[in-house]
Amino acid sequence: MEQTARGAWTSRTGFILAASGSAIGLGNIWRFPYVTGMQGGAAFVAVYLGCVLAIGIPVLIAELTLGRHTALNPVGAIRAITKSRYWPLVGYLGVITGAAILSYYAVIAGWTVGYIFRTIAHSSSTFGAFVADPAIEIGNFALFLLLTAGVVIGGVERGIERWSKILMPMLFLILLGLIAFALTLDGASKGVEFYLKPDFSKITGSTVLAALGQAFFSLSLGMGAMITYGSYISKQENLAISAASVALADTLIAVLAGLVVFPALFSVGQEPTQGPSLVFNILPRIFEMMPGGTIVGVFFFILLAIAALTSTVSLLEVPVAFLVDQKKWSRKKAVAIVTLIVFVIGLPSALSQGSVPALSSIEWFGGRDFLGIMDFIFGNLSLTFGGLLLAILVGWVWGTRNAAEELALGAGPRFAALIPGWSFMLRFVCPLIIAAVLLNLTGIF
Ligand code: PHE
Repeated sequence: MEQTARGAWTSRTGFILAASGSAIGLGNIWRFPYVTGMQGGAAFVAVYLGCVLAIGIPVLIAELTLGRHTALNPVGAIRAITKSRYWPLVGYLGVITGAAILSYYAVIAGWTVGYIFRTIAHSSSTFGAFVADPAIEIGNFALFLLLTAGVVIGGVERGIERWSKILMPMLFLILLGLIAFALTLDGASKGVEFYLKPDFSKITGSTVLAALGQAFFSLSLGMGAMITYGSYISKQENLAISAASVALADTLIAVLAGLVVFPALFSVGQEPTQGPSLVFNILPRIFEMMPGGTIVGVFFFILLAIAALTSTVSLLEVPVAFLVDQKKWSRKKAVAIVTLIVFVIGLPSALSQGSVPALSSIEWFGGRDFLGIMDFIFGNLSLTFGGLLLAILVGWVWGTRNAAEELALGAGPRFAALIPGWSFMLRFVCPLIIAAVLLNLTGIF
C-alpha cells in the first residue's frame, strides 16, 4: 500500500472504519434522537433519510474525490483545483467550523465520560445538577480534549485507524441488545409509533433545515473533514463504495439509536421534546430497569465516549492538517496550539449548562443556551452552507468531468455507469435544495 510522508490509511477497511468513526458519534446517539423528538418524530426521520440519500451521499463522494485527488487539507485542496482567490475561503470556513464544533462537542463528550462513573456509582443526582457543576464540566471537557489531542498527535494510521477497527462493530452490537430490551417495556409501542409512523402534515421549513443540517452533521460533511480523510486514501480504492458504506453505517447507527430511545421514553412517560438532555435522561433509566444494567450501562458509555473520540479526532484533524500542510508547522505544535484555542472557545459552552446563568439562557436567541447556539450556527448553518459551496465547487468549478476521472480510479467499469447520476445530483439537485432551505430560513420564501 502506498505510504507517503503525510501518512495514509493502511487498507480499504481501515479507511471505511476511520471515516465511519468520524461520522458515527454523538451526532447519531445524542443529536439525532433529540432533534427527532423536537421535530415531531417519524416525519422528520423520513425527511432525514431523504436528505442523506439525495444530498449527503453525493456531497460525501464529492469531498472524498477532491481530497484524494489533491492529497491535501481543505484549503490546499481548493487552491489546487482553482486559481480563484475566493474559493479557498470555503476551506478556511471549514477549518474554523471544525474548531468551533469541537469546542462544544468535546463538552458533550465529557458528559459521556462523566456518565461512565455516574453509572458505576449509581449516582442519584439529576442530569441537570451534573452539568451545572462548573468544575466537573470543565474537568471532563479538558480531559476529552487532551485525549483527542493525544490520538491526533499519533497520526492517521497509528492513531485513528487502529481504534475505529474494533470499537465501531461493538457499538453496533450493544445497540441491538438495547433495542431488544427497550421493545419489551410496557408502552414501548407508542414510542415505536412516534418514531416510525409519519404524520407528514408536521413538516415545515424548519423541519427540513433541521433534517438537512443533521444529515451534514452526522456524515461529517460541509467542513472538509471528509476532504481531509479522503486525502489519505490510496488510488486503488473505490470511492463510491467507500462513501456508500460510510453513509449506510452512519444512518444505521442513528436509526438504531432512535429505536432504543423512543420506546423507552414513552414507556417511562418522558417528553420527546426535552432537547439536548434527552438521551442523558433516558439511557440511565433503561440501565436501571435492565437486568445487569450497570455493566451494560458502563460498557455503553465507554463505547459512546470512544465513538465521540473518533469524531473529535476528525474535527481536530482538519485545522491540524491545514497548519501542517499550508503553514509547515510540526504536527505536535499544530495540535498543541489548536487544542488550546479550542479549550478557550469551549469554556462558555461548558459553563452554559446552569453554572453561569447569563450563558444558560441567551435572550436574543430565543432563550437558548450558549452551547445550543454554537450547535445551531456551526453544527447546522455553517455545515449546510459549506455543503452548498462544496457542491458548487466540485460540480461546476472543478467540474464533475474532472472529478469523474478521479472517481473512476479504482472503481472499475461497472461504476462508471453511475457517474452521470452522481453528477446530476451534485450539480443540480444538491445546490437547489440546499439553497432553497437556506433561503427559506431568511424568510425570502
Ligand atoms: N459526524 C460526527 C457525529 O455525528 C460529528 C462531526 C461533524 C464530525 C462534522 C466531523 C465533522 O458525531
